[in-house]
Amino acid sequence: MNESNKKDIPGSVPKHIAIIMDGNGRWARERGLPRLAGHRAGTENIRRIIEACVENGVKYLTIYAFSTENWGRPEDEVSGLMRIFEDVFDRELSELHRQGAQLRHLGRLDGVQQSLVEKVRNGVEVTKNNDRIVLCVAFNYGGRDEIVHAIQKMIEDGVEADQVNCDLMDQYLFTAGIPDPDLVIRTSGEQRLSNFLLWQTAYAEWVFPEAYWPDFGPEELQKSIQEFANRERRYGLVKQN
Ligand code: IPE
Ligand code: IPE
Ligand code: MG
Repeated sequence: MNESNKKDIPGSVPKHIAIIMDGNGRWARERGLPRLAGHRAGTENIRRIIEACVENGVKYLTIYAFSTENWGRPEDEVSGLMRIFEDVFDRELSELHRQGAQLRHLGRLDGVQQSLVEKVRNGVEVTKNNDRIVLCVAFNYGGRDEIVHAIQKMIEDGVEADQVNCDLMDQYLFTAGIPDPDLVIRTSGEQRLSNFLLWQTAYAEWVFPEAYWPDFGPEELQKSIQEFANRERRYGLVKQN
């Protein structure tokens, strides 16, 4: 679809896409490789998906990189993943900046190794004025933990019970200021939330492409966006004729 056609169909391009990048381990196993090789291949896919999102007019992209439950994986996989995340910052930050992406982190940083915390904070700082696309990285993120964190903060701030409403909740989540995802993509054929953006995906459209994350390229992204364009979002209302 060319640029002018795209503008003719209001709402056809999701403003915010969120991706559960799943299937790295199976991608590696099918090639007889260690799981960490799958994770490495997965990180190499991120750059082209960011670029494809920008080309499609997507303004916000959220990627699920590491959940609060993923700490329970074998120690060597967890430490390998942390090393890979550090490498990604070293390798990709300048390219991300050149792409005009503004980095946001979703999740908690306590309990994360200091060298990685510093890289995350530096990445957020360096890219804070970019506006081509906002890239939210959900790392050490859990949807339930996010809600607990928001309630803790409200109590700390002395918020009264009758002041609590959905708008206030939005402001206390890690995603404050970011519109809810329109489209959530979970790669690798799995069909579950796995503690991702529980609050924010209340009315998101979901697609479940079969491709493992390292194989999920711009063409697959295009198909997901097309599927989204064919959906009718009703938000609990009745069909408009
Ligand atoms: C997703 O790939 C990446 C992370 C959870 C860090 P997986 O590692 O879950 O891959 P599969 O599901 O085992 O194939
Ligand atoms: C969700 O995938 C987390 C990320 C992609 C970072 P998992 O592979 O951890 O989820 P489950 O275990 O299949 O539900
Ligand atoms: Mg998985």
